Amino acid sequence: MRDFAGRTAFVTGAASGIGLALARVFAAEGMNVMLADIEAGALDAAVAQLAEFAPRIGSVVCDVADLESVSHAAAATVEAYGPVHILCNNAGVAGGSGIDAIAPETWRWVVDVNLMGVVHGIAAFLPGMRAHGQAGHMVNTASMAGLQANIGFSPYVATKYAVVGMSEGLAKDLAGEGIGVSVICPGFVRTQIAASARNRPERYGVGAKPAPGGKAALLAQQLAGNAEAGLDPDAGARQVLEAIRTNALYVFTHPEMRDEVDARFAAIDAAFKRTAG
Ligand SMILES: NC(=O)c1ccc[n+]([C@@H]2O[C@H](COP(=O)([O-])OP(=O)(O)OC[C@H]3O[C@@H](n4cnc5c(N)ncnc54)[C@H](O)[C@@H]3O)[C@@H](O)[C@H]2O)c1
Repeated sequence: MRDFAGRTAFVTGAASGIGLALARVFAAEGMNVMLADIEAGALDAAVAQLAEFAPRIGSVVCDVADLESVSHAAAATVEAYGPVHILCNNAGVAGGSGIDAIAPETWRWVVDVNLMGVVHGIAAFLPGMRAHGQAGHMVNTASMAGLQANIGFSPYVATKYAVVGMSEGLAKDLAGEGIGVSVICPGFVRTQIAASARNRPERYGVGAKPAPGGKAALLAQQLAGNAEAGLDPDAGARQVLEAIRTNALYVFTHPEMRDEVDARFAAIDAAFKRTAG
């Protein structure tokens, strides 16, 4: 997809971090942008920020874990701006680490947002994107945790592997239909991800704090103690824009993390060789 001005983008998790940065780059390209998020106050603030330089910015409170809520958001977007060209399934939460300390409710919350949120976005938007027949693009936010499990076994890793796999399959499925697919796999980005529990709905109970000394706890500590830690989300969003332009499947914002993926591939390769031998 090469022409952005006057087209429409829908972004989930758009009140903060990577989602807000995506909304900002689309708005700067002259697109109509519908921001969707579960956190109403932050959403209002995000809209006010973008409306200062972009006239066609809308918002809808939406829980991506709930298909009805996403379908309502899709209808509101079409009503406001017409056909949707870019869908960003970006909302995500971090929770649970250490296999012995993950409550079933935490699994459900993370799976419902990080995985089912993407499934719901596809269900609610893809039929319309196919029907209008113009160029379109889907961006799914995964993580480097979708390619290597160095932060430990966790619902987060499980869902991000799933998002990478779904995106790879979708790219093939949609290749002949003029709808591109990109999956963004960032390392650490300067966002509010470490405070994901702020948007944990009551129905999922209260999550346990990360085990002291565990990788998730150390990461949260590092991020909290260093306001400058991690990539600027705007830099990641600019890379996504370029990936949409060139229809690139993978967006890697942290090339220095390649070794971790190489190590996984090497272990897989060695296992194949053992079997073959
Ligand atoms: N920050 C990082 O280091 C990092 C690294 C890799 C991947 N990611 C991924 O980037 C995406 C965006 O996260 P971020 O880092 O910008 O964090 P963030 O917390 O700053 O933003 C996430 C947004 O998602 C919203 N959200 C949470 N639950 C929701 C729900 N049920 N429905 C709708 N919106 C919901 C939040 O309100 C928030 O505005 C996530 O998928 C995350 O897993 C982040």
